[in-house]
Amino acid sequence: MNVLMVTSECAPFVKTGGLADVVGALPGALAPSGVDARVMLPVYPALFPLLAKGTEVATFGDLPGGTGRLVQVEAEGLTLLLLDAPQLFDRPGKPYNGPDGRDWEDNHRRFASLAQAAARICFDGLPGWVPDILHAHDWQAALAPVYLKQTGRTVPKTVMTIHNIAFQGRYGPHVLGELGLRPDWFHADGLEYYGDVSFLKAGLVYADHVTTVSPTYAREILTPHFGMGLEGVLQARTESLSGILNGIDTDVWNPGDDAALPAPYNAANPKNKRQSRTALAERLALDPDHDSPLFCVISRLTEQKGLDALAAAIPHLVEAGGQLAVLGTGEPGLEAAFTKAAQDFPGKVGTYIGYDEAFSHLMQGGADAILIPSRFEPCGLTQLYGLRYGTLPVVARTGGLADTVIDANAAALAVKAATGFVMNDVTPEAISATLDRVVELYAQPGVWKGMMRAAMRHPVGWEESAKSYVSLYEILTAS
Ligand code: ADP
Ligand code: GLC
Repeated sequence: MNVLMVTSECAPFVKTGGLADVVGALPGALAPSGVDARVMLPVYPALFPLLAKGTEVATFGDLPGGTGRLVQVEAEGLTLLLLDAPQLFDRPGKPYNGPDGRDWEDNHRRFASLAQAAARICFDGLPGWVPDILHAHDWQAALAPVYLKQTGRTVPKTVMTIHNIAFQGRYGPHVLGELGLRPDWFHADGLEYYGDVSFLKAGLVYADHVTTVSPTYAREILTPHFGMGLEGVLQARTESLSGILNGIDTDVWNPGDDAALPAPYNAANPKNKRQSRTALAERLALDPDHDSPLFCVISRLTEQKGLDALAAAIPHLVEAGGQLAVLGTGEPGLEAAFTKAAQDFPGKVGTYIGYDEAFSHLMQGGADAILIPSRFEPCGLTQLYGLRYGTLPVVARTGGLADTVIDANAAALAVKAATGFVMNDVTPEAISATLDRVVELYAQPGVWKGMMRAAMRHPVGWEESAKSYVSLYEILTAS
């Protein structure tokens, strides 16, 4: 079974969020089932060094954004298909925006080019390799199933995965011609979204199957509150919609073998976690105080993540005896709020504004609990890393957070199943009340250690979910 994954990011090469982690890990998890998954993504400057090691396998004369070529290269256990189109992707800044933070004005052309190149590979194949499935991730890849459908072909079958429905790729109708989309498909049951073209909607309409990254989010997006205007499209497709939980790469995220930690630890022997806490406290100038819980946040600083409500609860967190370590970048108002909290509560709150992969490992290793009060969360990966590192997740009851964390209620504690703390609301009051519960249980070392053990033994790898993807691919190719 050959699967062409189409994506705008892939760890460890280029990452702005969890999408990269998922696409970077899933092919390896599919391989034992005989799936040869290759990852197609653009050549941003960070990927230049790989180009020289690869082989050119296709050229394109007339993508929406001009010419391009495809270079295949093996790296970090993945087979990458790199779309080299410097006029589109050789730019400073991030994958979607320039150094000034503003989205690139030609993003529609950039990602339509990626999608169209993927569709062409499906028509023509590569030397010795023809995809059986095209698997598109998020709006940046969402036109790939559309371009395929436009040709009238029914092979390969297409899967569209929603990692975050908040990002839809919406552009004015003038882009139709430029992107080579069928004008007669520009209607409410097709490419149109309130007078505009929506990449994600188009993918949801024309893909053979739609998935999202947790069962709860798959139900939530059928409602107006979570569907962000696409609930109607999804309601029409419930028979072809499923939620498959993300896993994590348990080799990359392994407290028993993590170069970012001062000493390894595991579920059987978690004692050395203390050394990580000491290292983390030193790095953020926190008081070396082991008697109360050290919370962490590792996140994009956005409203999605509920961090405005958390920022308002910081005085309570400190009053309750807790400490807080923050690693994140994002909305200027939130960056300022967490920076100010560190100034207001020296020794108790430490903030690092920036993106730092190695530091995120030390945070997971050193903190006692990780705070994720998201307003919506398709899956969430940091709670899974938290479970693996015995850093108990404190989460909102939504999306994948609800599917992966078992609340420390009396019943769960009694059977030693509890792995974290789940709250029903995202308000400063609800967060404060939950923080009190955490502080209370942390003061009972026997209970806390039991929860750490349960968390660290909770299965967070890709095994089960990889099987679900394989059976989906099999059902689709057999139909
Ligand atoms: P999302 O994709 O919505 O941002 P996820 O929880 O799925 O949320 O994935 C976020 C990923 O990005 C995780 O791997 C997390 O560790 C990482 N991350 C977020 N912010 C930072 C940061 N400032 N530094 C390092 N890693 C970060
Ligand atoms: C998105 C979601 C996040 C999910 C990630 C990977 O960025 O916000 O919840 O874990 O994609 O699927």
